[in-house]
Amino acid sequence: TYIVNDNCIACKYTDCVEVCPVDCFYEGENMLVIHPDECIDCGVCEPECPADAILPDTEPDAEKWVEFNRKYSEIWPVIITKKDPLPTAEEMDGKDGKMELFSP
Ligand code: F3S
Repeated sequence: TYIVNDNCIACKYTDCVEVCPVDCFYEGENMLVIHPDECIDCGVCEPECPADAILPDTEPDAEKWVEFNRKYSEIWPVIITKKDPLPTAEEMDGKDGKMELFSP
């Protein structure tokens, strides 16, 4: 599976949604997650994210993100259409410590 990490927080560009062939992105207030059981590992979303927030679960540290993505994908609604990025997207792109801004 691929996962979305905290680089998405406060950006939420949603370019990833547009290319996903199985609609496995779920939307929270200020980030998206991928449902690990629905992701087919095609990888097309990874290069589309301007914030580099999408990684394969083969990366070090990915296990905690798989669990995080699973947890919220079971709570949040599916998103199937691209929308405008958050107004903070540009200034927050690449910032450290974004977990403090996470809205569950
Ligand atoms: Fe987030 Fe990147 Fe998608 S910022 S909404 S994972 S394009």
